[in-house]
Amino acid sequence: MTDATRTATLTLDGKEYSLPVLSPSVGPDVLDIRKLYGEADVFTFDPGFTSTAACESAITFIDGDKGELLHRGYPIEQLAAQSTHIELCYLLLYGELPTAAQLADFTGRVTKHTMVHEQMHNFFRGFRRDAHPMATMVGVVGAMSAFYHDSLDINDPWQREVASIRMIAKLPTIAAMAFKYSVGQPFVYPKNAFSYAGNFLNMCFAVPAEDYVVNPVLEKAMDRIMMLHADHEQNASTSTVRLAGSSGANPFACIAAGIACLWGPAHGGANQACLEMLREIGTVDRIPEYIAKAKDKNSGFRLMGFGHRVYKNFDPRATVMKESADEVLGLLGIENNPTLQVAKELERIALQDEYFVSKKLYPNVDFYSGIILDAMGFPTSMFTPIFAISRTVGWISQWKEMIAEKNQKIGRPRQLYVGSPKRDYVNIRHR
Ligand code: CMC
Repeated sequence: MTDATRTATLTLDGKEYSLPVLSPSVGPDVLDIRKLYGEADVFTFDPGFTSTAACESAITFIDGDKGELLHRGYPIEQLAAQSTHIELCYLLLYGELPTAAQLADFTGRVTKHTMVHEQMHNFFRGFRRDAHPMATMVGVVGAMSAFYHDSLDINDPWQREVASIRMIAKLPTIAAMAFKYSVGQPFVYPKNAFSYAGNFLNMCFAVPAEDYVVNPVLEKAMDRIMMLHADHEQNASTSTVRLAGSSGANPFACIAAGIACLWGPAHGGANQACLEMLREIGTVDRIPEYIAKAKDKNSGFRLMGFGHRVYKNFDPRATVMKESADEVLGLLGIENNPTLQVAKELERIALQDEYFVSKKLYPNVDFYSGIILDAMGFPTSMFTPIFAISRTVGWISQWKEMIAEKNQKIGRPRQLYVGSPKRDYVNIRHR
């Protein structure tokens, strides 16, 4: 952020107030209204934060009109094609691409933290056997603060670092355990010889009775899914993590709050909802019926995996995800998968339809991810937990950035009160 050299003027009741204009390194200018309430005794009103920058950040940048997503300046397409999730974790956390030695050291640190405390197994067993893995994850990640007391002090940079590595390392283990528990299979311990994505696949699909061979194409596809979900600047779950963290709550509690927010169908829960919708449509001849329903405001139905608050041209993650879907289904010899056929035809029809065109509604990251995960053998209930594993590094990077800020304050929005003015209590006998 540069020092403000320009100002905007707000005129209210004949009085003028000067608002500094802040210039970001890229993107639209930002009006600084921090002193507005003190000087003019007014709040601004922006439910849904559609025009409000809630923080300063140097991690991720999105240009929604161009369909551009940059992590620390690097385009997502280049990262998805040339990097790995573990390298992207380093980039998001520390700001620069690692050298070979830095990457080896970081990978080693993450790998050595993948096991969870053995006592946590008992915690899992308290859940109903058919619990949704997201329900289990919210609980278990929150409970990490009861197990890792030596990384709870947010004022100690070393403890913040250890907590970050622990979460990046253990979230795949916890998600895989939540899955195994939900299908009644024994937990599979992490194995250091595997890659980050390969280890996760092994923990989900290996069973004691039979070895699981990690298919390198599926491993690469899983790694790419993780990269495509790694961070997305100030989305709902990240803002939740920041708000929770702003009060000084411990990092495990903050990430549990982020997972809870991610679960909603307007956010990360859309990948599960999207595949369920595609299956419900079933055949391409039923698509017009669903398009009509999505356009009918009274139906309450939306095309899941379509639309985005920021992208108004295309979601670059969806483009990579679609290529990946073709690759994975091709490898598995199921390119004629009816769900993929429905998805492609639905996309084609919607992108020509005046309603979707005029509202700038395009497929988002969740539109094709479920098709890949389904082909890999995951039940729909695991789609959002996989999003959560992937987004953990984004949440942690944003949380660390916030805690390290010099003048960090508790997040505390104001409101436009529309309730009753002050009135006197009436005794129950007189009501
Ligand atoms: N199907 C039909 N109409 C839609 C859709 C959709 N998927 N999305 C938005 N609209 C319409 C909406 O009805 C509204 O119409 P009008 O202006 O006539 O009232 C207009 O488009 C703008 O929608 P909005 O709800 O004001 O936009 P938003 O920025 O608040 O919401 C969104 C963004 C992603 C929540 C929304 O597009 C949506 O609900 N999509 C479906 C769920 C989904 O796929 N979510 C995943 C998002 S990407 C990954 C992630 O963040 O986790």
